[in-house]
Amino acid sequence: MNQAEKEQYLREYSILKNQGKPFFPYAVAKDAVMSLIVMLVIIFLSLEFGAEILPQVNPTTTTYVPRPDWYFFFLFEVLRVMRNAPKFTDMATIGVPTICMILLFLLPLYDRSPERLITRRPIALSAGLATIIAMAYLTYTGANTGSPNSVSLAPPSGLSAAEKATFRAGEIVVGESGCLACHVIGDNGNNGPGPPLTRIGLTLRPGGIAATLRNPTAPMPSFKNLALQSPKKFQNLVEFLSMLQ
Ligand code: HEC
Repeated sequence: MNQAEKEQYLREYSILKNQGKPFFPYAVAKDAVMSLIVMLVIIFLSLEFGAEILPQVNPTTTTYVPRPDWYFFFLFEVLRVMRNAPKFTDMATIGVPTICMILLFLLPLYDRSPERLITRRPIALSAGLATIIAMAYLTYTGANTGSPNSVSLAPPSGLSAAEKATFRAGEIVVGESGCLACHVIGDNGNNGPGPPLTRIGLTLRPGGIAATLRNPTAPMPSFKNLALQSPKKFQNLVEFLSMLQ
């Protein structure tokens, strides 16, 4: 913007300012009317429909899946993606959002460009769009993740219907038995102290898997009791793991 443009802008601005109306009472009155309408709508909705009442709290549940409110799904997803990199979790979940907030706060100080036209502001435009797209994507994936104590793997292709049923049944036993506290399977579970099991079927035969489950190396607990008490479940578990290739 050169000197002439600047003077023209200031001239137009003062003309517009003289034609305009003062903030008080015009804009304030409009805002007040709109606020009143919003308030009345909220009062109407709460009288007419009330608030959703969820089931009573049960502190003994072991299947409750904690989830944030939808507007925090993007942060939740960042935390979920970073959970196996403890060194970076704080930076990713607290550091980066805080830096973004500070950058937003300081925007008027470092963004001194007088341009208003969005097409003349490619950097601001792409930064804004990238932020919106990233947050939308993270919100979507965060909202669609499975529960932390269940496996969400598709059975390998080429299985018969019976094998697929075994796969699903074994998946459930894995969820119930707490294997994911120590092992990663696909996208689920914790990376350690146990090794990832996503392809365990390639390195261990069913007999080896069953032997490991019965007589594991510490800290892995023994699942001998499962084999004794629910042989069917144990069988499904072993077959499920050997299908992971
Ligand atoms: C407390 C943590 C813990 C739990 C819970 C646990 N594991 Fe493990 N698991 C380990 C560790 C640690 C090892 C590695 C032991 C070693 O070094 O020999 C291991 C090893 C294994 C192995 C052998 C891996 C290999 O590559 O040789 C298999 C298979 C396995 N676990 C399956 C399971 C299954 C299935 C469950 C649930 C029914 C389970 N584990 C529960 C910690 C755990």
